[in-house]
Amino acid sequence: MSKVLIVGGAGYIGSHANKLFTAKGYKTVVFDNLSTGHRRLARWGEFFKGDLANPADLARCFKKHKISAVMHFSAFAYVGESVTDPAKYYRNNVANTINLLDAMRAARVNKFIFSSSCAVYGVPARLPMPETLPFAPVNPYGRTKKMVEEILADYSAAYGLKYAALRYFNAAGADPAAETGELHFPETHLIPLALDAAAGLRKNIKVFGSNYPTPDGTCLRDYIHVTDLAEAHLLALRYLEKGGASGGFNLGNGKGFSVLDVVHAAEKVTGGKITVVMAPRRPGDPPALVGSAARARRILGWRPSRYKLETILADAWRWHRKTLKERTCQK
Ligand code: UFG
Repeated sequence: MSKVLIVGGAGYIGSHANKLFTAKGYKTVVFDNLSTGHRRLARWGEFFKGDLANPADLARCFKKHKISAVMHFSAFAYVGESVTDPAKYYRNNVANTINLLDAMRAARVNKFIFSSSCAVYGVPARLPMPETLPFAPVNPYGRTKKMVEEILADYSAAYGLKYAALRYFNAAGADPAAETGELHFPETHLIPLALDAAAGLRKNIKVFGSNYPTPDGTCLRDYIHVTDLAEAHLLALRYLEKGGASGGFNLGNGKGFSVLDVVHAAEKVTGGKITVVMAPRRPGDPPALVGSAARARRILGWRPSRYKLETILADAWRWHRKTLKERTCQK
């Protein structure tokens, strides 16, 4: 039986996809160098320690395993760091992806699901954002995702690659059974930081910007549960298996929550008090990002199920408490 290769399957979103694919009867192989991922999160299927920067690792992996499709979750994703160290981002997110695509060509594997981002659109002209908006990223991270999407279109035309580029909005939450979840060191994302504050691991949460043109002055984001993202990967693979045309799909809930909405919901879910400190805007933050996933709904049949902010936070909190000791050690 052929297998699905999950590149970056020891990381946050990849580990959830691995769990779901395994539950649905797929055989999986995780390919990861464990630079930011965790071996124990790659707990389903097989594991291959390898580095995308090293084509020989990829060749060995494709030789050892009969792979039918590849999902690629392995990218650096700190927007701020991409501004200060763009070389790191272009090398890993773009050059290493080319290595992966070329290894697929050599092994004659042509189905590819790519973790893209709403960051390809930059500051959108309208909300909710459809896929027809132009690509206009405002930071190197977003540009790496745009570049890879352009490479995918060219590889598709020239070499017959079949791909789905899944443009996530703000991935959040955790496996409801708390078998995997978000575990980044350092952590920069709003929800885990708010949960840290609720747990007493940090004194306060800084709100980056309170004078945006939004209802409460803080940024609006479309938080999408990581298990709903995993489900979209499953549907996208089935779609490609049935001969669906290559293309991009936005994955969001279509509803924006402000930074303060998230902090208040985190207080409600945890029962803790979170001290908020107003801080200057963070460079590169668009005021509002809200996605239209009408295309994913229509073509893939995707229906997010864990869309309530409280559900997202409750699932994240269960995982957060389970990993509190590791988080404490990192302080
Ligand atoms: N925020 C704060 N304080 C914090 C951390 C975040 O106010 O301590 C705010 C941010 O300014 C932003 C919102 O909370 O308005 C969400 O910030 P995150 O860092 O959690 O997420 P981002 O929206 O910056 O980034 C996410 C993904 C990126 C992706 C991006 C697309 O993590 O990979 O969405 O815009 F590129």
